[in-house]
Amino acid sequence: MELCVALDKPEMEQTLALARELREFDIWMKVGFRSFIRDGRNLIDELKAINPGFKIFLDLKLYDIPNTMADAAEEIAKMGVDMFNVHASSGEKAMKTVMQRLGGLDRRPLVLAVTALTSFDNESFGYIYNENIAQKADRFAKDSFDAGLDGVVCSAFESASIKNITSENFLTLTPGIRPFGEDAGDQARVADLAVAKSEEVDIIVVGRPIYKADNPKAVVEKILGDSSMQTA
Ligand code: C5P
Repeated sequence: MELCVALDKPEMEQTLALARELREFDIWMKVGFRSFIRDGRNLIDELKAINPGFKIFLDLKLYDIPNTMADAAEEIAKMGVDMFNVHASSGEKAMKTVMQRLGGLDRRPLVLAVTALTSFDNESFGYIYNENIAQKADRFAKDSFDAGLDGVVCSAFESASIKNITSENFLTLTPGIRPFGEDAGDQARVADLAVAKSEEVDIIVVGRPIYKADNPKAVVEKILGDSSMQTA
């Protein structure tokens, strides 16, 4: 499993200080709404300057009409990020249009689709989608796979089932990870490292347990050193 650190700090300088502290690790850096709305492309360039080996995941969860999504995807690809995401609920047509557009470029980032946000429980999810999370997540994953995407964002609990109905090479990236059982915060479906491993997760996303820790570097070291992170 690989580790992706969510950079949801309140100021750019704090984000960069965290990145400098973690510069020696082979990890993903997740730039989400908070950081990107505030700091924009400059942040991506600064992160790559700190460690060109950082893999950048731009977590903007695109959701719009197909042409607008494809336009946005093309601009994201030009920024040189390594991975970004869309909402699977934007529909198979929108996802296909994104992949067609990216297919015309020399180099494209990995593209993932969000199935169900990990902050949903079954009741709050059902209110919007009229279906239970596990079934709908499987269906969204199948749509994303058929549209040619590289994988999905899901909870650890859906990962193995999704690989089963798509392909073992179809990536699963899972937020809501509390590596050693830390406080869940607003996440409803949290899993620890052992669950993530048993569910065949490819990339775990960890935010608050790292960036709010007194010693983020020690937490990252502990996570990367855990036996669940090693490939069998
Ligand atoms: O602090 P925590 O570890 O809960 O952070 C999880 C990160 O993953 C946040 O940046 C959140 O926006 C993001 N995320 C999520 N659920 C998704 C997709 C992204 O929690 N389905």
